[in-house]
Amino acid sequence: MPTEPTHRFLRACQRLPVEQTPIWLMRQAGRYLPEYMKVRQQAGDFLTLCKNPELATEVTLQPVCRFGVDAAILFSDILVIPEAMGMGLTFGSGEGPILEPVLRSAADLDRLTPVDPEDQLGYVLQTVTLIRRALNEKTPLIGFSGSPWTLATYMVEGGSSKTFRYIKGMLFDQPAVLHRLLDRLSGVVADYLNAQIAHGAQAVQIFDTWGGVLGPQEFMEFSLRSMQQVIQRLHRVGPDGQKVPVILFSKGCGAQLEAMVESGCDVVGLDWTTDLGLARQRVQGRVALQGNLDPAVLYAAPERVRQAVRQLLQAYGPHPGHIFNLGHGMAQDMDPERVVDLVAAVQEESRIILRT
Ligand code: CP3
Repeated sequence: MPTEPTHRFLRACQRLPVEQTPIWLMRQAGRYLPEYMKVRQQAGDFLTLCKNPELATEVTLQPVCRFGVDAAILFSDILVIPEAMGMGLTFGSGEGPILEPVLRSAADLDRLTPVDPEDQLGYVLQTVTLIRRALNEKTPLIGFSGSPWTLATYMVEGGSSKTFRYIKGMLFDQPAVLHRLLDRLSGVVADYLNAQIAHGAQAVQIFDTWGGVLGPQEFMEFSLRSMQQVIQRLHRVGPDGQKVPVILFSKGCGAQLEAMVESGCDVVGLDWTTDLGLARQRVQGRVALQGNLDPAVLYAAPERVRQAVRQLLQAYGPHPGHIFNLGHGMAQDMDPERVVDLVAAVQEESRIILRT
C-alpha cells in the first residue's frame, strides 16, 4: 500500500492538505537563466545538452537551487521521441525545431522504427537516475512526454506551424492514416513514460501543447482519446511504492475540462484563459488543478505579480488540490528576478489563505 507523500507538490497532486501551495513553472530551466546559457554553450547546442546526462542534470537543478520551487522537471524535449523513431531532428537558430523527412502518407509511416526507450532514449533515463540521486529526496522529479497528437503535429508539419495545414489535411482526408500514427505514438509514449517512472520520475506530465487547435469533436477523437490510451497503460506506482500522479496539460482546451477529467489523469493543467475558481467547481474534487497564471504577468512590476498571485489563490480558495504554475512556459526574455517575486508571493499569500 502506498503511504502518504510528504512533499507538498505530490500531496497537492493527490488533493491532500498542504500548509503552502506548491509551485513549479513550465520551462523553468532555459534561456532566461544566465547559468543555463553557460552550460548550453559548454555543451555546444541544445540537443547535445539534452543528450549529456551530467549537463542535463545540472540545468534541471538550476531553477530548483535558484528559486526553491517545489518540483524539478526533467530537462529534455518532447521531440526526442520522433528522433528515436528515426526522424532527423535539428534546432535551427531562431526558426524552431525541424523534423525530416516529413510524414504525409501511409507509406511514410512504415519508415518509422520501433522504440525501446532503454535503447534509443537511454540517455534520458540515465538523466532521470542522476537527477534523483542529486535531488536526494529533497524535491520531487517530474518526468514528461509530448502527447501523441502534439508529437504528430511536428512529425507531419516538419516543425512548428501556424496553420497546421498538413496535419489537419491528414485529419480530414486520411483519418485512418492519422489514427495509425497516433496509435503508434500512444504505445511509444506509454513505454517511454513507464521507463521514466521505473528510473525514478515521481510524477509525469503529458504536454498537449496543440490540443487547442482542434474543434471539440476532433479534440476528443484525435487528442484526448490517444492520451487516454497512454494513461491506461501507465504504471501508477513507482519503484519506491509511492503513487505516481499523471498531469494532463492540453493548452487551449479549458472548454473540454469535464472530458479531460474523465481521461483518468490525477491533475489537469490549465492555461490562463480558464477561470480557476469556476474550474474547481466544474471538476468537483475529482482531480487536482495546476496553473494558471498568464506568463506575461512576469513582464509587470513585482507588486502587480503579487496582486495577480493573490487573485488566483483566492479564486481557487482554501481547498486542497492546487499546484501553482504558469498557464504556459517561461519565455526567453523574462527576468529571473520576477520569478523570485512570484515564488515568494505564492509562498506567503497561500499560507494566509490556507489558514482560513
Ligand atoms: O520545463 C522545463 O524546464 C523542461 C524542459 C522542456 C523543454 N522543452 C526544454 C527546451 C520541456 C518540458 C519542453 C517541452 C516542449 N518542447 C514542448 C511542450 C511544452 C511547450 O512549451 O508547449 C514543445 C512544444 C517543445 C518543442 C520545442 N522545443 C520548441 C517549439 C522549442 C523552441 C524552439 C526555440 O528556438 O524557441 C524547443 C526548444 C527548447 N526546449 C528549449 C528548451 C530550454 C530552447 C532551446 C535552446 O536552448 O535554444
